Amino acid sequence: MTTDLPDIVRDLPGLRQQVADWKRAGEPVAVVPTMGALHEGHLSLVRAAAAQAPRVIVTIFVNPRQFNSAADLAAYPRTEEADRLKLAGQGADLVFVPPVEEVYPPGFSTTVSVAGLSEGLCGAHRPGHFDGVATVVAKLFTMTQADLAFFGEKDFQQLCIVRRLAVDLNLPISIVGCPTFREADGLAMSSRNVRLTAQGRAQAPALHTELRRVAGELASGKTMAECEVLARAAILAAGYTEVEYLELRAESGLVPLDRPTGAARLLVAAWIDGVRLIDNVPIAGGAV
Ligand code: PAF
Repeated sequence: MTTDLPDIVRDLPGLRQQVADWKRAGEPVAVVPTMGALHEGHLSLVRAAAAQAPRVIVTIFVNPRQFNSAADLAAYPRTEEADRLKLAGQGADLVFVPPVEEVYPPGFSTTVSVAGLSEGLCGAHRPGHFDGVATVVAKLFTMTQADLAFFGEKDFQQLCIVRRLAVDLNLPISIVGCPTFREADGLAMSSRNVRLTAQGRAQAPALHTELRRVAGELASGKTMAECEVLARAAILAAGYTEVEYLELRAESGLVPLDRPTGAARLLVAAWIDGVRLIDNVPIAGGAV
């Protein structure tokens, strides 16, 4: 039985034709942008999209413009057939898998750059990354003409950037952020988790454990300045080799904070087993 497998479309005219048919029938369209190597976190976004829109497009495009190194781009997993099988029964109608030339035809010269929001946190460690993300997301929105788009909160800075660009460019699309999907031991789901050794995989959940512990301390009145040194040491002691950043930011505008005022996020990036993992937790009104 493969009847609920979504169709694969690779070209823009084919995509436009299908979307036009849906829109003519009065059916709103949701998009879930991905780079493939789908896991349960992606599937939870697809299910959330299907719960809110009658038509769901999943895009699979390993976007060369958001990689900092050619080796990283070449090593990125491409698992199209397995991804399509995973999407069976999740509510996706169509998978858009464009070749690079369909997204970036010869002569392509435009970059979408969201100033400010792109600069700290991951942006400080991955030069050009968020310009690549913003450019491809703007393209995917205009290519799919979707009415809603679903993104995970795990990439919280990315979510903020996408919200900003949709407003700034007057794109007629609603951005829906969905909570981070976690393994039973708390590790945030990520396509990178499969690259961990058994030992690294066993140690990796310490990142979330430490985020929760610090979030509790912040909620009980401590400042980041009081928490940060100990937290970084605890993450390293758990088996991580480097903590790139551990920061408290306001959800609105990602303004750096020393103590939570209003809706805030505690965000971290750290390396384990040569794999860079990111995570964050919400801190609202002093509660974890
Ligand atoms: O989060 C991702 O997988 C990518 O950054 C995205 C949003 C699909 C853009 O390539």
